[in-house]
Amino acid sequence: MPTTLDALVARSRRIEVEQIDIDAFRSHPLDDASLACLRYMCDIESHTVCYLCELLATPVHADPAITRFLACWVYEEQFHGDAIGKILTAHGLAGAPDAAATLRRARRARDWLRLVGFSVFSPIAPALPGLLMAWGMVNELTTQAGYARLVARAEHPALTGVLTEIMKQEGRHIDFYTMQARALLERPRDQRIVRSALARFWAPVGSGVKSNEEVRALISTLFTGPGGPEVVARIDRRIERLPGLAGLHLVTSSVERLLPGFGRRAA
Ligand SMILES: [Fe+2]
Ligand SMILES: [Fe+2]
Repeated sequence: MPTTLDALVARSRRIEVEQIDIDAFRSHPLDDASLACLRYMCDIESHTVCYLCELLATPVHADPAITRFLACWVYEEQFHGDAIGKILTAHGLAGAPDAAATLRRARRARDWLRLVGFSVFSPIAPALPGLLMAWGMVNELTTQAGYARLVARAEHPALTGVLTEIMKQEGRHIDFYTMQARALLERPRDQRIVRSALARFWAPVGSGVKSNEEVRALISTLFTGPGGPEVVARIDRRIERLPGLAGLHLVTSSVERLLPGFGRRAA
């Protein structure tokens, strides 16, 4: 039976942050590279509510079916950030609220400008909702893959437990954005615009919020090892099943720009 929006909303729940076994991290701490990945992920998950601001400034807000899901989506993402933040605090690092406050203070002017840009230009860009849904699909696919790679890398049972729960929710987010993108990419003209905009502007999740060095370090840690480029190629094949996006190689090309030679590492 195909997944429906109602089914996705009905299964929405928060991660039980209180149940995370902090002692398991205190007795067996994570290595520095894994913690750097978690810092990045915590900051970006906690920043999701700012992306929601931008989404709601576009005509997307006029569709109650979409906003119904987005309300659940931002709720779940909030607790992804909180859960990862709790793991970071077990290592003596800043948790989600402190890191989010610092990040938002630093980005106040840029975030305001982006919001104005979305508000002013979205009414004259009819392909924008389709682009935002396709963009969300790519972000959710790559985020889920990042968590899976970190689980495999860290081999830490308590981390595996938390990230497995998060990955299940990211799977529902993927289903939602894929459904919406497919529905909104019916017209060949929209497909052409979305394809071109993704190719020109899409960059790995967190780009523009985290520094280029941090983006590069995250991808290096998670995706340049054995099997990493193949995971990225599989994500590209899923994206290319959307109407008009065949042969785009979106994520591989974008990572290639950050880490030249990445695409040639695939077995
Ligand atoms: Fe998330
Ligand atoms: Fe997500």
